[in-house]
Amino acid sequence: MSKKMESSMKGKTLVISGGTKGIGKANVYKFAENGVNVAFTYNSNKEIALEICNDVEEKYGVKCKCYPFNVLEPETYKELFLEIDKDFDRVDFFISNAMIYGRAVVGGYGKFMKLKPRGLNNIYTATVNAFVCGSQQAAKRMEKVGGGAIVSLSSTGNLVYIQNYSGHGTNKAAVEAMVRYAATELGEMKIRVNAVSGGPIDTDALKAFTNYEEVKQKTAEFSPLDRIGQPEDLAQSCYFLCTQEASWITGHTLIVDGGTTFK
Ligand SMILES: NC(=O)c1ccc[n+]([C@@H]2O[C@H](COP(=O)([O-])OP(=O)(O)OC[C@H]3O[C@@H](n4cnc5c(N)ncnc54)[C@H](OP(=O)(O)O)[C@@H]3O)[C@@H](O)[C@H]2O)c1
Repeated sequence: MSKKMESSMKGKTLVISGGTKGIGKANVYKFAENGVNVAFTYNSNKEIALEICNDVEEKYGVKCKCYPFNVLEPETYKELFLEIDKDFDRVDFFISNAMIYGRAVVGGYGKFMKLKPRGLNNIYTATVNAFVCGSQQAAKRMEKVGGGAIVSLSSTGNLVYIQNYSGHGTNKAAVEAMVRYAATELGEMKIRVNAVSGGPIDTDALKAFTNYEEVKQKTAEFSPLDRIGQPEDLAQSCYFLCTQEASWITGHTLIVDGGTTFK
């Protein structure tokens, strides 16, 4: 890491949803190790969230705080950011990462003939609405500090068939389109907006797939790099898109799939 790059990130603040595990947690650590203060949300894992805060503050000497948040109530981003304002004096980066699973996705995760409006709507809320509401709050604060960067997590399941993934895949396609609209309108505030679209990454969300072992094995088979993706593989791309090195990248989806999508 060059000194110049580190100093341009140091003292800035990242807000990210779903920082307790997987890709969100990897982002918390990636930004913190580069001197960025972090505000992240948790849903069911408060204890783990508090442990992460202590660990990050001790290891990297940055400020790290966690907040409860339910991505199925995206309008509560307003109150969440007001809480964050009490602890942090600026917001520079926002990553829309949290994703629902379990009962909330019943009727949304499954075969086409089993899809139901409620499950599909929940995924839309957690994917598109959450990106919009979180980005609106973040953008107001970024404008005050002269700009910033927003990243939405996406998935290559909007480009290739993944069994049971139509609900998520279609909403990832939708959020990528929303990213382009946001980028077009927020540019005048010097805010860049991009998506990172991951191939299968070995996290709890993937373990919840009914055919997890098969996906894991097929991913390694499809990848010229002969392995499944790790949370850090996506975190470093999210981080890159927030740095000055990505200063002319906006409205873009960066596909980070270990070469799996082509095969
Ligand atoms: N894994 C993959 O293969 C893959 C590939 C491409 C893109 N992605 C995308 O990357 C993002 C992160 O996925 P992941 O695999 O890292 O997931 P994960 O390991 O399952 O983590 C999910 C995170 O979301 C939070 N969360 C769960 N339900 C929530 C709710 N109702 N409200 C607010 N937060 C909630 C969890 O918090 P608690 O632990 O506190 O409940 C946790 O921090 C998602 O947008 C996903 O679609 C994943």
